[in-house]
Amino acid sequence: MLKFLLLNGPNLNMLGTREPDIYGSLTLEQIQDKVYKRAQELGVAVDYFQSNHEGALIDYIQQHASEASGMIANPGALTHYSIALRDAIASVQFPTIEVHLSNVHTREEFRHHSITAAACRGQIIGLGWHGYVLALEALVELVKQK
Ligand code: DQA
Repeated sequence: MLKFLLLNGPNLNMLGTREPDIYGSLTLEQIQDKVYKRAQELGVAVDYFQSNHEGALIDYIQQHASEASGMIANPGALTHYSIALRDAIASVQFPTIEVHLSNVHTREEFRHHSITAAACRGQIIGLGWHGYVLALEALVELVKQK
């Protein structure tokens, strides 16, 4: 069975209570549950990981480099400054789709640039939790086309 990774970076463990007007009211667990249900319908597996630590996120990507078919990644604030995470995404064979719950382009200037995006196959921004589900659907299609 194809396996996809769902990676969430710093502070995304606080979803539900963290600025709900910006990020929505669902917890990370509830979002993961929505992705899990869609994955079941699509007949694929998803492995989840969230960390507030850059190195732990990189370790996770490296550990799954040989068995995953793709990754959905919301690197949180690391999006805007982590060259190390970008390099980790670029170093693996599978495609990554970057997801942001909020529309970062309508927010502070420092959120307008993504360091990690250039290492990704695509980006889904500003659609709330739907972005994660849409990213999974796109990844499954992209992998099937190969
Ligand atoms: C975010 C946007 C980032 O700028 C922010 O630091 C986050 C969440 C989003 O999903 O909208 O932590 O990645």
